[in-house]
Amino acid sequence: MSYRVLVTGGSRGIGRAIVEELSGRDGWEIIAPGRSELDLDDMVSVEKFVSTLEPVNALVNTAGLNILKSLEDIDDDSLQSMLNINLISPLKLIQAVAGGMKKLHGGRILSFSSIWGMRSKELRTMYSIGKFGIRGVTAALARELGPDNILVNAIAPGYVLTDMTRQNVPADEMADICRQIPLRRMAEVHEIAKIAAFLISPDNSYITGQTIVADGGFLA
Ligand SMILES: NC(=O)c1ccc[n+]([C@@H]2O[C@H](COP(=O)([O-])OP(=O)(O)OC[C@H]3O[C@@H](n4cnc5c(N)ncnc54)[C@H](OP(=O)(O)O)[C@@H]3O)[C@@H](O)[C@H]2O)c1
Repeated sequence: MSYRVLVTGGSRGIGRAIVEELSGRDGWEIIAPGRSELDLDDMVSVEKFVSTLEPVNALVNTAGLNILKSLEDIDDDSLQSMLNINLISPLKLIQAVAGGMKKLHGGRILSFSSIWGMRSKELRTMYSIGKFGIRGVTAALARELGPDNILVNAIAPGYVLTDMTRQNVPADEMADICRQIPLRRMAEVHEIAKIAAFLISPDNSYITGQTIVADGGFLA
């Protein structure tokens, strides 16, 4: 039987790098639904997707949204979308796959937090709700699912060179941010994908409940 991995956010950025990293591995089957098959901002779409989902060995909740807004500008629609995509739908997917993993006597669950889920910054209230929340989900479910040999972790990247970063960091601030990072550069997507690939593989047999920070030393 193949080692089946469900990856969200596989169309671009870190998620696509994860799909590329895992594709072509002998005996691995990667399921990476596009937004038309699984819209994480639409609970009907999420319900429909999970209703036909076969058991998987691993889930990678990569998809995310980061709309920057000051407190006074936060509106209900943006807030709901950020909660849906960054926190509620990832939890729904975990709920959907956990039963199958229990039957398989094990599994790996990985979600994406952020450095803005460890500390925060102005304009990131909505983002930090989700990213701090993912750490809570990760810790609680590592305890709850540990006895079933289901390992639950998160990655908290720093600045990664993706559309999200290009949209939210003005080009003239890039150099200044890199000066604040001990490694003096942002991460490439494949550097994050390699960490994800390890955490969700059978090679990771004892790391659970962790949010692994991969930020080039930014938070140190
Ligand atoms: N980039 C960074 O510096 C950074 C740092 C810390 C944490 N992170 C986290 O890492 C993860 C990946 O980030 P990224 O930089 O690779 O993001 P990205 O380049 O902006 O790509 C976002 C991904 O999420 C998917 N997505 C967004 N809304 C969706 C929805 N409603 N339904 C289904 N899929 C949806 C997108 O699909 P479409 O192509 O259909 O839009 C795309 O595949 C996110 O959780 C992000 O918060 C990123």
